[in-house]
Amino acid sequence: MEGTKKRIFRWGILGLGKIAHKFATDLQRLPNARLVAVASTDVQRARVFAEQYGCEQAFGSYEELIQRAGVDVVYVATAHTGHYSSTMDCLRSGIPVLCEKPFAMNGQQAAEMAQLARERGVFLMEALWTLFIPGMEAVLEQVRSGVLGRIHSVKADFGFYAAYKADWRLFDPKLGGGALLDVGIYPVLLAMLIFGPPLPSGIHTVGTRTRDGVDETCSFIFQYEGNGLAMGHATVAADTPVEAWIYGEKGQIHIQPRWHHPTTFTLQMHDGSDPEEFSFPYEGWGYHFEAAHVMDCLEAGKKESDRVPLEFSCTLSRTMDVMLAQMGVKYEGAC
Ligand SMILES: NC(=O)c1ccc[n+]([C@@H]2O[C@H](COP(=O)([O-])OP(=O)(O)OC[C@H]3O[C@@H](n4cnc5c(N)ncnc54)[C@H](OP(=O)(O)O)[C@@H]3O)[C@@H](O)[C@H]2O)c1
Repeated sequence: MEGTKKRIFRWGILGLGKIAHKFATDLQRLPNARLVAVASTDVQRARVFAEQYGCEQAFGSYEELIQRAGVDVVYVATAHTGHYSSTMDCLRSGIPVLCEKPFAMNGQQAAEMAQLARERGVFLMEALWTLFIPGMEAVLEQVRSGVLGRIHSVKADFGFYAAYKADWRLFDPKLGGGALLDVGIYPVLLAMLIFGPPLPSGIHTVGTRTRDGVDETCSFIFQYEGNGLAMGHATVAADTPVEAWIYGEKGQIHIQPRWHHPTTFTLQMHDGSDPEEFSFPYEGWGYHFEAAHVMDCLEAGKKESDRVPLEFSCTLSRTMDVMLAQMGVKYEGAC
């Protein structure tokens, strides 16, 4: 008997930087995905990108793609500060969106995006790819199985050395620069996956700032009801291990680098038994897992993902609002 034929989804991409290339490469792994349109502020960049991925339409403005390309779903891959406006424009035109992290520049924007998606009945999801990586799915399965007993703490880092360039989005306050929104979001995400949402009962953040006032290094401790603690560290000033630990009463999990898209982790029980190694290799960059989930949701007629609900992204955004305020980072004029 012939298997059920999957619907083909016509994808568009807005913003053609580094992550857009990885995503476009990974889309090629999905038989039901076609990249049919790309848009950049620079039409020449769009043409070169389209040529590279065999994509039929290249636009020199995001608006043109939204209005004319006839896509089924858009991947928003612009710098952080463009996520809100591009997502809102797509939603107003009834186009489903997979929006890169951070979902928005602040909780207010996130709430407006979620509200518009609900009002218009259009699918919207934050591209929290970590959640769809097989190794992370397996970690969360272990945690939910209760094998570790009560989880009392988690610890994660994400740092890389970036040489200062004033006009790089990573350092530019007008483009949402800084460690937290770029990489610190991952340790915050781990805390939320293990202990929340809702918001932690206590958020304690300290950071150092660059000459431009964005956070260069950021450390946090979250307290949760029920005696849970989450500790995180992020920086754009040093290469750190990018590991994570989940500590429970009966045992612990060490997620090996780079923990936010893991292929291996170790389960060590406190009963003296040998550590158990788990391995979940995958091919590609790892962005096809989230893209496949988006298409499954669309195929099923869902308006939001039950794995990354809109409320989850809103809580994540509100948590980072508090953290940025505690570090004295303000993105005036960035939104
Ligand atoms: N999930 C992940 O693993 C992951 C990894 C890396 C980045 N990201 C996220 O993806 C987004 C893009 O990151 P990236 O590393 O691809 O950044 P990037 O290489 O700097 O590209 C960002 C793109 O945003 C667009 N843009 C629009 N207005 C801009 C402006 N005024 N200045 C600079 N760029 C502007 C540009 O697109 P056009 O000029 O082509 O329109 C640019 O190519 C970020 O929000 C980041 O957090 C996610």
